[in-house]
Amino acid sequence: MYQFNREEYEKRMKWFVDARFGMFIHWGLYAIPARGEWVRSTEEIPKEDYMKYFEEFDPQECDPAVWARAAREAGMKYVVMTAKHHDGFCLFDSQYTDFKSTNTKCGRDFVAEYVEAVRNEGLKVGLYFSVIDWYHEDFPHYGDRNHPMRNHPECSNENRNFDRYLTYMHNQIREICTNYGKLDLLWFDFSYDNLRGEAWKATELIDMVRTLQPGVIIDNRLEVSGEGYGSLAAGNPTPYHGDFVTPEQMIPPEGIKDVNGNDLYWESCVTMNGSWGYHATDRFFKPSSMLIKKLVECVSKGGNMILNIGPDAHGRIPEQSARILKEIGQWMSKNSRSIYGCTKTGLAKPEMGRITGNGKSLFFHLYENAIGPVPLLGVKKSDVKGMRYLATGAEVPVSKSWVHSDYPDILFADLGPDPVLPDPVDTVLEVILK
Ligand code: GLC
Repeated sequence: MYQFNREEYEKRMKWFVDARFGMFIHWGLYAIPARGEWVRSTEEIPKEDYMKYFEEFDPQECDPAVWARAAREAGMKYVVMTAKHHDGFCLFDSQYTDFKSTNTKCGRDFVAEYVEAVRNEGLKVGLYFSVIDWYHEDFPHYGDRNHPMRNHPECSNENRNFDRYLTYMHNQIREICTNYGKLDLLWFDFSYDNLRGEAWKATELIDMVRTLQPGVIIDNRLEVSGEGYGSLAAGNPTPYHGDFVTPEQMIPPEGIKDVNGNDLYWESCVTMNGSWGYHATDRFFKPSSMLIKKLVECVSKGGNMILNIGPDAHGRIPEQSARILKEIGQWMSKNSRSIYGCTKTGLAKPEMGRITGNGKSLFFHLYENAIGPVPLLGVKKSDVKGMRYLATGAEVPVSKSWVHSDYPDILFADLGPDPVLPDPVDTVLEVILK
């Protein structure tokens, strides 16, 4: 019977909870059609037609070191890259298939290059691995919910051997857990219908993973998908329980708790535009100002945010994404102490923004100024040692103005006469506690 070990769990989760901010990288053959990573499914492209992208794939300019540097400069503390997505194409040198980047014109093992580059930047290394595989003949085709050939009766499943597929899948996960050094995070994706948990032989799989990579943390998608929380939330953790919940393209309105009301660790995964894989015509990019506030929102609710880039067919970061990362990095370079190692504070969300905290300081994220001194509701004056602008360290006095004399119990910050906040996106006021 699996015994959940809370102490071991909290120990392996610590870096993740402190990091708060990661980069997702979705890249592979689908960058060539440039219509997102689900293109084979959404357009029901037969395998033989998809193979033209395999024959063409030759990203000479791809440099994972550029990705890793961009992540660090944006203030991200970990990176998760697709080793294999649903199309089954492996960015690593698997001995179990020919459908891999080392068999393309470029002959490169991008996972090997990626893990080295991320480690060189001092960041934690994550790999995404799809348990779904539309290339493998033993994965269900006709009638499956997602397979490109789901509507093709000629692709019936009589002669498919799912156990043979599971052996293949487990062998590949053994490869990535064996051949690429220490992994910090494995991001499995995803379970649906009856394909979840032991349908993946998940206990055997995670026993192997934890033997090969003892400190690795895993997401919850051997159990669920972006929908559902998993067995840890249900209070009866399975041997393959997700270590964190993975809300997708949304931020949980009030964070996430288990059935007993205990906070769960979670990570919102978010695209910059609307696509994970490169999409040439999806120009609906979220402004950096919005993404900064969404990162603050995640942390203020006790969660992480992993922000995605989808490099193009050459392996280059799209210029809109590069610009957004740079702008986020400029804010993080001055304010990251209000993100790293921070979490929810138990204080009500203030009118003018949000609050994060690390036990030693409260960080009031001011998105708009008040008329007059700024009320910091919920903070006892007697608990406050002092206040500073986080970005500059400049002292912010406690206001003694007559205008709020009717509210003697509320702490007011005196931001001075300028009604325009120093940072138009998020001015962080550090309230240092005694
Ligand atoms: C969903 C998508 C998949 C993407 C993942 C990222 O599972 O199907 O394409 O990689 O979300 O969270």
